[in-house]
Amino acid sequence: MKLKLFIYFLLVFGSFNSFGQSKPIDYRPQYHYTPPKNWVNDPNGLVYLAGEYHLFYQYNPFGDKWGHMSWGHAVSKNLQTWQTLPLALPEYKNADGTETMIFSGCAVVDSLNTTGFFKKGFKQGLVAIYTSHIEGKAQHQSLAFSSDKGRHWQYYKQNPVLDIGMKEFRDPNVIWLPERKVWLMTVSKPLEYKVQFYESENLKNWRLLSEFGNQGDMTKIWECPSLFKVPIEGSKDSKWVLMVSSGHRQTGYLAMQYFVGEFDGTNFIPQPQNEVFYLNEGKDFYAAIPFFNLPKSQSKPIIIGWLNDWEYALNIPTSGFRGGFSVPLKLSVFNENGIFRLRQEPIVKIGVPTIKLNLKAGEKLSPQLLDLKLNSYRLNLTISLLTSKGFDLELLKSEQNSSILSYDVATEMLSFDRRNSGNVNFHPRFSSVESIKFQPENGILYLDILVDQSIVEIFANKGKAALTDLVFPFSKTTEIGLKWR
Ligand code: FRU
Repeated sequence: MKLKLFIYFLLVFGSFNSFGQSKPIDYRPQYHYTPPKNWVNDPNGLVYLAGEYHLFYQYNPFGDKWGHMSWGHAVSKNLQTWQTLPLALPEYKNADGTETMIFSGCAVVDSLNTTGFFKKGFKQGLVAIYTSHIEGKAQHQSLAFSSDKGRHWQYYKQNPVLDIGMKEFRDPNVIWLPERKVWLMTVSKPLEYKVQFYESENLKNWRLLSEFGNQGDMTKIWECPSLFKVPIEGSKDSKWVLMVSSGHRQTGYLAMQYFVGEFDGTNFIPQPQNEVFYLNEGKDFYAAIPFFNLPKSQSKPIIIGWLNDWEYALNIPTSGFRGGFSVPLKLSVFNENGIFRLRQEPIVKIGVPTIKLNLKAGEKLSPQLLDLKLNSYRLNLTISLLTSKGFDLELLKSEQNSSILSYDVATEMLSFDRRNSGNVNFHPRFSSVESIKFQPENGILYLDILVDQSIVEIFANKGKAALTDLVFPFSKTTEIGLKWR
């Protein structure tokens, strides 16, 4: 009898914690990289070396809130599956008792040993260029180096290498200019909405070249800048692109903006633009930077972004881990009526359940699709709008909740509505709708949608627009729905 009662309790309350609280869903994505535990923000030091892509990142080794900032480390052979390695760059104590945190930065391969950090002829030396942050006191740029593919690091004894006496001066991104045999650093003065460009022969002594800023989106401070070349589609030429993490189209949120232009060796000259170009229209794509030293087989730059928004980042209801990264994105520049813009192409793990569908307005989804009962998949849709007024595609749909991706033909608005997506109450700023004006191509809308537990990444018309949002559905087995307007 007692046993029966026990089993009954197990069945009734098995999916509940004590006192009727339903078990929290951990929301861990299955094909987007997240560290096994603790807090992460920006990707750092994206670099390819000897068959491995390295992803370093802002990491708190001691907890799931921001703090003790250090560089975590993961590697991948194919940009699809990642292996977590031990902590790369820990915070350290200074002689005066203060603590230096390792803020965002980049990593380069010093194959010519310009720093002199490596043995003669050694071509695989890695150098990390990071912001050394002393809370309330200083931010300057410093170096660390590794001779064993990023497994062990030494801090440079004569750090910092670039100090302009500012408390807010951070996030260096360095590239190599082979024609001139110099390193070029792009770094941010966040509170001035400016980036600065410096050059150096040895990564240690830096000369200021110029500044750029005070234009574009200035609704939030400027962080994590990067300047790099991006090939123009259908041509042998390329453009220089300057990406900056800053404000969102909806004031108060964070996003990334970019400028396309030329770099003449001293100044960055943007093309005339009468609107701000945002890299991603969602609320949860920030701090993306490009890989350094990609292999020849990769003809386009590749970036990875942090999927979260500082507005509510500390409160997202995940358990065990907090924060993760976008899939890697290949970039190219396309010419639209004389204006150059970025296109983004996701690199998605092979084996992710993928549904490809051609849909004509009015057509219903097949019952198999309605019965999908998965929260991690890729949905590739080619939608002929014909004479319809638009549609509402319901993702991560359960009885009460869904995240709705809509297109409205009259207003040409593509929107993502997460107001009823599940848990939205953990922070007053989370519940939201994101929209972007967007024209179909000859009446056809292409949507490449990556759904992964708590992540939705949407690429419209072959990557001409991107929208990434976090969502926290209540159910682990959801459906897809479609309603024509
Ligand atoms: C951007 C940022 C950077 C800084 C880092 C600290 O998200 O604020 O500017 O280096 O995070 O973790």
